[in-house]
Amino acid sequence: MIQSIRGFRDILPGESRLWHGIEETARALFADFGFQEIRLPILEKTALFARSIGETTDIVEKEMYTFADRKGDLVTLRPEATASVVRAYMQHKLYAGDPFRKLFTIGPMFRRERPQKGRYRQFYQINAEVFGADSPLIDAQLVFMLTTLFSRLGVSNTSAHINSLGCPVCRPAFKAALTAYAGDVEACLCADCRRRKAENPLRLLDCKVPSCRKAMEKAPDMVTYLCPDCRAHFQRFTAALTALGVPHVRDPRLVRGLDYYTRSTFEIQTRALGAQNAVAGGGRYDGLMKALGGPDIPATGFAVGFDRLVEVVKKDMKTPDPGPEVFIAALGRESQDKALEWICRMNEMGISAEMDFGHRGLKAQMKRADRLKARYTIILGDAELASEKVVLRDMAAAEQETVPFSMVIQTVAERVGRP
Ligand code: HAM
Repeated sequence: MIQSIRGFRDILPGESRLWHGIEETARALFADFGFQEIRLPILEKTALFARSIGETTDIVEKEMYTFADRKGDLVTLRPEATASVVRAYMQHKLYAGDPFRKLFTIGPMFRRERPQKGRYRQFYQINAEVFGADSPLIDAQLVFMLTTLFSRLGVSNTSAHINSLGCPVCRPAFKAALTAYAGDVEACLCADCRRRKAENPLRLLDCKVPSCRKAMEKAPDMVTYLCPDCRAHFQRFTAALTALGVPHVRDPRLVRGLDYYTRSTFEIQTRALGAQNAVAGGGRYDGLMKALGGPDIPATGFAVGFDRLVEVVKKDMKTPDPGPEVFIAALGRESQDKALEWICRMNEMGISAEMDFGHRGLKAQMKRADRLKARYTIILGDAELASEKVVLRDMAAAEQETVPFSMVIQTVAERVGRP
């Protein structure tokens, strides 16, 4: 039997309802905060990701699903959405008139990471991007939005980690200091960190290998290297978070896995997930659009890991799928024809109604109604056809009433609160 690919999974009916509920909460949040939806392709030119995420990142070096299509063009299943949102914003000149735009998108991303709990090769993100404002107040609003999302979903136990990655003016000196420091502790570093210490030394700060963590404990801190503009920006960001009542911790190791970030970066972490503790991450990427050949427009945003959010929400609530509002146990051909008419009319009115389409006896059908947790049941057989009356039974209350055929739909609608 053919199975799904490693790291790719099915979201089964019991769980998909939870996904849907979370997506609805996110969509309501975006409406409240003035974001518009953008829907994007899943496949893009490889160059888009290589140039925006960075050639020396894990994602571009070893995690992208890249292949040549039939004409030999290199294409990639998107590993994240920010690059695509920027591409679309530039391509359709969404900056014409007023460059300020708040966009969101929800969908699957693909990274060939080592699968484990909370880490998949196809995973889903809820993305928000804001273009056209360099104010740290927007960054604070984004973190506030994330905390609002978690509180609306009833998720506690999260913490906001923040940092600043500076800008092209101040970061080179920090990188040089990090490279020099890494040279001093080189003997304790893993092979990846040794290789990267010259070209991408920031990555050394969030390497998970214990010896690297220990070696980097006394590494230089970006905040002490910030230029006056970046320092003021970061101070205003943290002051705004404090004023909004968003608890946050400064995390000098928060460097993020993508190269486009400048200034404010943040991550929402949770203790509920074990090793994969980042449930959302983001930050400012003021230079990306220009670097991709577009206008010089500042931008900032975040992505929530949908799969991880579901895990966290699941821990806090258990809601079984509700059963049908009414189940019709129909016996015989003529009864089934009548039952079909009733359930279709009720479905059309928004009432969830089910029947049995097989040839089971009354006992088996009632057992099924019980298993489905139907709220009401109707038995329809020869006797009912003859009298043109059925018994409508309230399963929980164990009460029943006799209803003439002409009143069945109306009575069910009234009982389930949809007259
Ligand atoms: P990221 O930190 O790479 O950022 O991903 C954001 C979130 O996606 C992570 O915090 C995590 O919850 C989830 N995630 C990432 N990889 C996986 C995986 N393999 N399995 C399950 N969940 C995963 C970005 O992607 C940026 N584009 C965020 C951003 C938007 N920055 C600015 N705007």
